[in-house]
Amino acid sequence: MPMRLAVCVSGRGSNLVALLEALRGSSLAEVVLVLSNRSDAPALERAREWGIAAEALGDFRDGAEWLERLGRHRTDMVILAGYLKLVPAEVIAVYRGRILNIHPAPLPAFGGPGMYGLRVHEAVLASGATQSGATVHLGDEQYDRGAILAQARVPVRPGDTPETLAARVLEAEHRLLPAVVLRAAAAGRPVPLSDPMELPA
Ligand code: GRF
Repeated sequence: MPMRLAVCVSGRGSNLVALLEALRGSSLAEVVLVLSNRSDAPALERAREWGIAAEALGDFRDGAEWLERLGRHRTDMVILAGYLKLVPAEVIAVYRGRILNIHPAPLPAFGGPGMYGLRVHEAVLASGATQSGATVHLGDEQYDRGAILAQARVPVRPGDTPETLAARVLEAEHRLLPAVVLRAAAAGRPVPLSDPMELPA
């Protein structure tokens, strides 16, 4: 039986689409539900275009509502793919070790509360780092603190702006997240990727 995935989104949904494309025809895993804290998230439209149940949470802080929706779709694993709020503690308690998050920078250096969107890339550029990248880690009660499963590295280039760096990291995200999800589906649970992914610019 394919592993049943719920993908949580807040915005555009490009990581969702990258995952759907990677899972097309796969017997390992399928996306059975896309959940959002925002009813106007474009990612919900992407999900509907793919014929996947797409639901907006009435109250994203309400763990019972989450658990009802996840349970109704018999969710095995939860993927936070551009989901910008904390997941309620009741949900973490039930799905602990089965929640993945993707973050658009190396962790723990460039994460934590408020570190999302262009602010992440501004912080990387301000630090003078010569590399950035994408991180997939286990989701828990805090922002960006769960065990790291895989990181992909991309170079920071002279003249980069937050926007150009974000675009380069996003391409890495689109490769890293499906790789970690497919590995987790094959193993039956999230497992670290043995080699960090080095990606050309
Ligand atoms: C990604 O950079 C993700 O890492 C971050 O928000 C962005 C979401 O992009 N947390 P998308 O909605 O997947 O296009």
